[in-house]
Amino acid sequence: MIQDKLLIIRTISALRSTVCKWKSRGLRVSLIPTMGALHDGHMALISSALKMSDRIIVSVFVNPKQFSPQEDFLNYPRCESKDVELLQITGAHVLYSPTIKEMYPDGFVSIVTVDGPSKGLCGDFRKGHFSGVATVVTKLLLQSDADFAFFGEKDYQQLQIIRSLVSDLNIHVDIKCIPIVREIDGLAISSRNSYLTIDERIAAPTLYKILVSMSEKLTNGEKISDQIAWGKRQLLSAGFKAIDYLSVCDADSLTPINTIIHPARILVAAILGKTRLIDNVSVPLTL
Ligand code: PAJ
Repeated sequence: MIQDKLLIIRTISALRSTVCKWKSRGLRVSLIPTMGALHDGHMALISSALKMSDRIIVSVFVNPKQFSPQEDFLNYPRCESKDVELLQITGAHVLYSPTIKEMYPDGFVSIVTVDGPSKGLCGDFRKGHFSGVATVVTKLLLQSDADFAFFGEKDYQQLQIIRSLVSDLNIHVDIKCIPIVREIDGLAISSRNSYLTIDERIAAPTLYKILVSMSEKLTNGEKISDQIAWGKRQLLSAGFKAIDYLSVCDADSLTPINTIIHPARILVAAILGKTRLIDNVSVPLTL
């Protein structure tokens, strides 16, 4: 069913007054922060949000502060009309898409930096990225005053950082998460998968298969160091050009571990052609 009531909002003041009206009627509001180029992963976030709230805001903002100068900010896929169509189909109520000037007006000088879970993994390879994410997510949470905000486990480190910042800064929002939505062959769906060539797309699902195999073997008691070495060899022989990291971490703190004593997570970032893919699985897999 296509709903024609999708409201497109571009200013903080219009967002605030819309949410204020909803809240005065006792409606529960969910925020789903995205950078657009919406896909089934984003749609799954919206479906989950619809189950527990009355109004859904999907923000679409390609946040310049989370891209380093060498990264793909200018080329990041942007397709508002397609996003609008998808949002109408899923039943979201507001597309909140502010301009860069609205988010970061002249004189903007604040930055939110989270320690702890930002250390290591992508934090070592994308300098400043998580401060950019933490800053924009803090702003979106405060602007929307949402009761719930939904994030995907696809960006597992980002999720843990957002949990920390919401707890540390006493932001009045309940953070919810959903599991990774995958293509039929196991590749985690991502807006950046569109950068893969045909051959790279064929090789890409190996990333997930290696993680699954590692998780099963770790559950059966194999050594973490042996499995990391095995996984790296497999990735390189599958055609991955470089591995930023392949780590087994405590699932909450994201500190690397040597033995599985707590729910753990295997996290990977590896380069295929020109595309950097990230993925993660739990140990044991069923968690
Ligand atoms: P974006 O990459 O658009 O992702 C928006 C949300 O969708 C994130 O919570 C992400 O984890 C989730 N997501 C993406 N692919 C998914 C998949 N295959 N399965 C499940 N969830 C998936 O993450 C960002 O944008 C930005 O960093 C943002 C949080 C919006 C801040 O700018």
